[in-house]
Amino acid sequence: MPIPTLLGSPLVRGRLELKNRTVFPGHQTVMSRDGVVGDRMHRYYLERAKGGVGAVVVEGVAVHPTAPKFPEYLLAYDEAIVPSLDRLADGLHEHGCKAWVQLAHSGSRMGSLDTQHALWAPSDVRSAISPEIPHAMTEAEIEELLDGYEATAAVVARSRVDGVEVHSAHEYLPAQFLSPVNNRRTDRWGGSPDNRIRFLLEAIRRVRAGFGDERVVGVRLNGSDLREDGLTSDDYVEVARRVEATGLVDYISVTAGTSAHNEMIVPPMDVEHRVFVDLAAAIKKVVSTPVIAVGRITHAASAERVLADGSADAVAVARAQIADPQWVIKSLTAPETVRPCIGCNQGCFGNLYTNRALTCTVNPAVGHEAELGEGTERPAAEPRRVAVVGGGPAGMEAALTAARRGHEVVLFESAGRLGGQVVTASAVEARRELAGIVEFQAAELGRLGVEVRLGTEATADLLGDEGFGTVVVATGSVPRPPSIPHAGTPVLTPEEAVAADGDWTGRSVVVVDEVGHFPAYLPAEVLADRGARVVVATPRLSAGANLDSSTVVRMHRRLARKGVEFLPHVAAVEVTATGVALRDTLTDVELERPADAVVLAAGNRVRDRLTAELAGRGVQVVAAGDCVAPRTITEAVREGQRAGRGL
Ligand SMILES: Cc1cc2nc3c(=O)[nH]c(=O)nc-3n(C[C@H](O)[C@H](O)[C@H](O)COP(=O)(O)O)c2cc1C
Ligand code: SF4
Repeated sequence: MPIPTLLGSPLVRGRLELKNRTVFPGHQTVMSRDGVVGDRMHRYYLERAKGGVGAVVVEGVAVHPTAPKFPEYLLAYDEAIVPSLDRLADGLHEHGCKAWVQLAHSGSRMGSLDTQHALWAPSDVRSAISPEIPHAMTEAEIEELLDGYEATAAVVARSRVDGVEVHSAHEYLPAQFLSPVNNRRTDRWGGSPDNRIRFLLEAIRRVRAGFGDERVVGVRLNGSDLREDGLTSDDYVEVARRVEATGLVDYISVTAGTSAHNEMIVPPMDVEHRVFVDLAAAIKKVVSTPVIAVGRITHAASAERVLADGSADAVAVARAQIADPQWVIKSLTAPETVRPCIGCNQGCFGNLYTNRALTCTVNPAVGHEAELGEGTERPAAEPRRVAVVGGGPAGMEAALTAARRGHEVVLFESAGRLGGQVVTASAVEARRELAGIVEFQAAELGRLGVEVRLGTEATADLLGDEGFGTVVVATGSVPRPPSIPHAGTPVLTPEEAVAADGDWTGRSVVVVDEVGHFPAYLPAEVLADRGARVVVATPRLSAGANLDSSTVVRMHRRLARKGVEFLPHVAAVEVTATGVALRDTLTDVELERPADAVVLAAGNRVRDRLTAELAGRGVQVVAAGDCVAPRTITEAVREGQRAGRGL
């Protein structure tokens, strides 16, 4: 892969001094404790600074008691935060990384159960992701809030951080003032574009006043609201012009989205790469202030293109650096070794809306940097021959971790290819990137020289004959057999359905969804693509209950547009000669759906025969992933890594 050159070049413009063109943009980690940066969050950001990033934007911090979106928020209006910001800034500076802090108020984008305050917003307009109507601020409250921006900037200025960023994107409060959808005021804060931008410009002025003239003040803007009745790219070009005209701002970071399509704020894997770069480029054309682009910039070459095209002066890379904290260093030296973000949103954005700390599907160290981060992996005390059985994500992770530590590893896989169930799970274009993790693991095994034996069933006898004293069992899981009576209509497992090539035009399929996850929706999509009329029947109130809040929306939209029908709150009772007998779980009314085939997504059961076979043979056996209990890639990678570290 070509090594990027622009990406590593410094960006020096006035107060803005970055050692390279990369930024870790603001994102809530849900790791704060008591409103300050605790150890866990500190280690999390430090890890990315060690990985070479030019600046870390410390997640949205509250500028006023009405601002926090959830309890684990940083409370920057409170002096108590200063020592923890100092410690963080010092840590980042050791690695030449700047510390910027994002000043935020979520306005109507939350719930007062979490904030313990009535929501403050320009008007009493509900945000699409909030359960409640906000309080329309009085003029006095607007002034109080602007004072809050200034006072908070002054608090942050007492620390050694290098900059602050006014969050005016994603329908946060200043963006709510900008938007005619959220802002229905008729006073000087609403109505005309001049009135609607007043709050943002005033907030910038107050922040500069509070923060002083020496250090960086940036602004995060949408480049588009991505909704028909919202502000467009042209509107935001004008907003950016006005922001620049204040003469107070050192950079403009350009993103997109509002609560109307909340899933697009952190665009999942079925959205194209570099998705918001054109919006940044439109702004860059009219301002001389440095512009930062964001949005699925995950590869070094892609980032380099943003810079080479002149679309932006720097790139903000969030999830790719969550997935691999060494993203910058690796991108600048050996891009092919980057552990890829697969855009699944499972562990990051998914956790945000359930108030759980950030994690990552492909990187178990996220939020656990002290125990699992860079430099914590120790060479094996006694290097030995290790057999890993199973070439899915758990087995491969175990194998490459053990090999890195100095063990001589042989990986056995009964199929003719690596990847396990992930290969099937990535069978449609929209889920293709899921395969990124197993492709990375396979390439890493090659780089580490691990011997891989495909098409080899590793029995206890074979392992014994070859003298393996240590075996990692990662043999995965298989679909459960049907638990309901079935006769006549063919019943397929999700894998069989995906493998059922050919023309399904005119045929009816009922997918029985007992999992609330892709083992049901993947075959539904595949068969719809092949021409089938597909119905997804779920006992829950809606399909996708176990998907994160962004992926579930994209899944519903995609499948609905492909003609897939969703049948909620029905349980399958029996597969009959002509289709499926169902029972409404709310009314107990029975109904029948005709079908030419039924796909039963009923979950998996463990494939753990080898563990039993090895018992009593004096072999050290460690099990990982689905063969312990069938779950997701997250657990497979985590347990595989743990197994590899434990040997
Ligand atoms: C868990 C999570 C929380 C986020 N919270 C914020 C936030 O508080 N403020 C913000 O400006 N952007 C937030 N974002 C958006 C990111 O800054 C970034 O714009 C987005 O993830 C797209 O960039 P990427 O494709 O590089 O991940 C968040 C993203 C994630 C994944
Ligand atoms: S959880 Fe998924 S989307 Fe989020 S950073 Fe990890 S791989 Fe990327």
